[in-house]
Amino acid sequence: MTTQDNLKEAFAGESQANRKYLAFAEKADHEGYKQVAKLFRAAAAAETVHALNHLRVMGGVGKTADNLRNAIDGETEEFREMYPKFIEQARKEKASDAAILSFDVANKVEKIHAGLYKNALDNLGKNKETDYYVCSICGNTVERSAPDKCPICNAPKEMFKRID
Ligand SMILES: [Fe+2]
Ligand SMILES: [Fe+2]
Repeated sequence: MTTQDNLKEAFAGESQANRKYLAFAEKADHEGYKQVAKLFRAAAAAETVHALNHLRVMGGVGKTADNLRNAIDGETEEFREMYPKFIEQARKEKASDAAILSFDVANKVEKIHAGLYKNALDNLGKNKETDYYVCSICGNTVERSAPDKCPICNAPKEMFKRID
């Protein structure tokens, strides 16, 4: 293992810890443990600092055009290779519907992300200003306005959060 490998591993671990602690914070909030929820959110914010430090130090942040290409490659790999394989295996294993659905919605949304990124790259420097709306059930990501019903998971309009 080189330091570059270790930076990659540390970036992955810190990134995961960030999301995990946010999920734990939400749970603590629901259970009425407000202070513990705050602690999880504080640690989550710190893990983000660590993750971003590792990513920068390993040279993982380039110019925006390169970053868009990187993002397109990542999303494309996910919806062409990774998720189709995962879905196939989950079906073979007779894994839970929840697991299959979790892969399936991500798969569909990564395809949308790849398209949005391609568009952004093609128009770099003259990108039209618009807001994005993200479905809090499936992650579906749409431009301009939230649909009445999420075309991926059928969630109602209110489940979409505007991203400025
Ligand atoms: Fe994505
Ligand atoms: Fe959705």
